[in-house]
Amino acid sequence: MKTIIITGASSGIGEQTTLLFASRGWQVAATMRNPKNLTMFAGNDNIRAYQLDVTDKGSIAPCFERIIGDFGRVDALVNNAGVYATDPLEVTSDGMIDSIVDTNIAGVVRATRAIIPHFRQNGAGVIVNVSSIAGRATMPFQSVYHTSKWAVEGDRAGGCQNPALPRDGRGSGGRLPGRIP
Ligand SMILES: NC(=O)c1ccc[n+]([C@@H]2O[C@H](COP(=O)([O-])OP(=O)(O)OC[C@H]3O[C@@H](n4cnc5c(N)ncnc54)[C@H](OP(=O)(O)O)[C@@H]3O)[C@@H](O)[C@H]2O)c1
Repeated sequence: MKTIIITGASSGIGEQTTLLFASRGWQVAATMRNPKNLTMFAGNDNIRAYQLDVTDKGSIAPCFERIIGDFGRVDALVNNAGVYATDPLEVTSDGMIDSIVDTNIAGVVRATRAIIPHFRQNGAGVIVNVSSIAGRATMPFQSVYHTSKWAVEGDRAGGCQNPALPRDGRGSGGRLPGRIP
């Protein structure tokens, strides 16, 4: 049985991805920032929930260590947790800029960094960053969000050139969702 970690599993794409992998026989470590949501997958034997805020720098590695301890091995990580905002840049608050950068960029980089030693030890592992069409194209009033998703695209491209990472010969690819209600 394979194991996958999914960040931001409490709603939307993360929630649906969690349910999809579980339905296909994977063990899912569904991570979520709000402890109130930790019981949302109760009753599904393939899903175990863990509290994780990807902006909480010190908590990612311990959370992943706990997951690895619980399952023995992790095969894939989905960096899904993200914050979306649409506003003219001049009225976008510092708090919102910090939140988008810290979650959508630094959160992805931190989680990736935390799982690399385990994947290297296994000689295998898959990392999926949930990017967006907003990481390739631009639209009005999404300046900071665009910045974050273009950065995620750079992280993917840069990560694939990292000779320290295990490779499966398939290189990198992208699936870039458009608007999902
Ligand atoms: N929906 C779209 O049209 C679309 C299109 C392209 C790409 N995307 C990307 O898809 C991903 C998921 O978005 P979504 O549309 O499914 O939105 P969503 O329903 O708002 O889900 C975002 C998830 O990220 C979590 N999250 C936010 N900040 C977090 C943090 N600091 N630590 C841990 N979890 C955090 C949220 O947790 P809470 O429940 O606690 O808020 C929520 O579970 C994002 O990366 C987004 O940019 C979405």
